[in-house]
Amino acid sequence: MAYETIIVEVEDHVATITLNRPDALNALNSHLLSELAQALTEADANDKVRCIILTGSAKAFAAGADIKEMSEKSFVDMFLGDFFQPTVDAAAKVRKPIIAAVSGYALGGGCELAMMCDFIICADNAKFGQPEINLGVIAGIGGTQRLTRYVGKSKSMDMHLTGRFMDAEEAERAGLVSRVVPAKQLMDEVRTAADKIAEKSMIATIAAKQAVNRAYETTLTEGLLFERRVFHSLFGTEDQKEGMAAFQEKRSAQFRDR
Ligand code: HXC
Repeated sequence: MAYETIIVEVEDHVATITLNRPDALNALNSHLLSELAQALTEADANDKVRCIILTGSAKAFAAGADIKEMSEKSFVDMFLGDFFQPTVDAAAKVRKPIIAAVSGYALGGGCELAMMCDFIICADNAKFGQPEINLGVIAGIGGTQRLTRYVGKSKSMDMHLTGRFMDAEEAERAGLVSRVVPAKQLMDEVRTAADKIAEKSMIATIAAKQAVNRAYETTLTEGLLFERRVFHSLFGTEDQKEGMAAFQEKRSAQFRDR
């Protein structure tokens, strides 16, 4: 499928989706958002794909929603258009892991998009922020909720109320990103992580993703019960037998998603 605002490459079980509006620092306009929703849905449905990488350019993962496109919209336009929601819904439906590879700016909707992924690996030049307050609005696709869960109330309030940016070192210290790497090594590091994920049993991978995500949706007791039930159910798979046999036979496991 040919896209105009993103580039999609599938290589050895990994789909890489690159946001590609470099002149606008990958600002998220409605065309890009609909292409992104489609690419995520396609990658999830593609049996060859076992992990997805979402990235931008060296200068910007994405500098937010497209301010030029949004600026003249009315409440009714925004309410009835709800133009971000299909992408948010598409991302939420993806069962395979999505890694955000962030270099440069991840601001506003860009930061929110990164946080919709399963984890974020960033370059040492990354800058995260929710600067919507400077535009007279607030975050609109999860920033107030997700950033607060990632970094806690105090830092989240600071970011949303002052509009300041967080650098890579602070983002790692605060738990927003899982790793920081030198900018030149970002894609190699993310690719290595994606390849590692792609080697596992897809059944256990999806189960792990669902179980971690339950932590954000339910009580500890219910989350622990969900985890235990899923853990028990994995003993019904051939991949569990293969994984544990391979350990004992001191060889690497050959998972077959059964
Ligand atoms: C549209 C954008 C843009 C954006 C940058 N550009 N961000 N266009 N929407 N969000 C465009 C600029 O207009 C410019 O194009 C080109 O990209 C390069 O940007 P510069 O500002 O010249 O670059 P620089 O001086 O390096 O500054 C980089 C920056 C700054 C700090 C990232 O661009 C910036 O502050 N951008 C806006 C960040 C922001 O407020 N994001 C939140 C958006 S609201 P031209 O052609 O003009 O030279 C949001 C809401 C989400 O995300 C909720 C949705 C429901």
